[in-house]
Amino acid sequence: MSVARMLTGDRPTGRLHLGHYVGSIANRVRLHQRYESFFIIADLHMLTTRNTREDIGRVAGNAREMVTDILAAGVDPARATFYLQSAIPEVGDLNTLFQNLVTVPRLERVPSLKDMARDAGKEEMPYGLLGYPVLQAADILCVKGQVVPVGKDNAAHVEVTREIARRFNHLYGEVFPVPETIAAETPTLVGTDGRAKMSKSLGNAIALSADSATVRRAVMGMYTDPNRIRADVPGTVEGNPVFAYHDIFNPDRAQVDDLKERYRAGRVGDVEVKEKLAVALDRFLDPIRERRARIEAEPGLVDQLIFEGTERTRHEVRQTLVEVRRAMGLTSAYTQVRRRAERHRKATATPA
Ligand code: TRP
Repeated sequence: MSVARMLTGDRPTGRLHLGHYVGSIANRVRLHQRYESFFIIADLHMLTTRNTREDIGRVAGNAREMVTDILAAGVDPARATFYLQSAIPEVGDLNTLFQNLVTVPRLERVPSLKDMARDAGKEEMPYGLLGYPVLQAADILCVKGQVVPVGKDNAAHVEVTREIARRFNHLYGEVFPVPETIAAETPTLVGTDGRAKMSKSLGNAIALSADSATVRRAVMGMYTDPNRIRADVPGTVEGNPVFAYHDIFNPDRAQVDDLKERYRAGRVGDVEVKEKLAVALDRFLDPIRERRARIEAEPGLVDQLIFEGTERTRHEVRQTLVEVRRAMGLTSAYTQVRRRAERHRKATATPA
């Protein structure tokens, strides 16, 4: 294995938005050329909070949309392997083995899990959700991933992966790399309503697939400085979502500086600041829209990528499982049983 492997991905719960872009997709686009790259469609992880027949019925469609979004964002399909987690049962086998390499209190200290339980309206922690980071370790290590670009929330999960890899290697011999986390440099993107995080379920997101009119509507409705009732009142730029977006998505630094200066001095209206943001977002999204149109012009293309990627990944994962079972001594346990059984069968066989 000469080129290091990268593993990353998302649960197939809907279209990706600007928050995903800032939180992890930008990093993936930048990094995927440099590594042998795997993108997981983590539908088993989705089941930890959403497991109705309806949720599961949407997996195939959501997977297709999600992969389309990732490709449209700039990932080259020739350099990435996409796979559907639930189609690789060996991932579950690895998860079962890894469950013994981490304690319950350790998992209870992972902050994101409590948030996820609360957001999903669960009063008590589901067993599977507590094990979310362990399953994620199985995802990463089943292909021996060495580099994991993730959003901020997931950095704590990858820390659990690192511990599991070290623990496994210590107990059974060097099988796994201890993967590096690459967290996004940009802090979490605020929602259009000013809430801490952009999220589709909060209704404060702008999808990467949004058309120009939708972007405009979302921007015009954005939360700004609540104390500023008129354009001639000096406003606050810090913590103002409209300027947070300008900082990230508007490459025209001179324009942004000018807007900030006039905003602070009470010499620009919110409308102008927002108009310019809508233009900047359109410029940012236009190449993504063009790539999406090309992908969507070829129906079946994305499914073919996912299918072939899953077959290829399954092949890799099976090899890892053989190695894991050997290292742990499970292979030899069964070999002993088989040998003794065969000997017994021979000894007791009635001659023909
Ligand atoms: N936990 C990720 C999310 O928040 C999805 C995921 C599952 C993942 N397995 C992974 C990310 C492995 C990176 C590596 O949706």
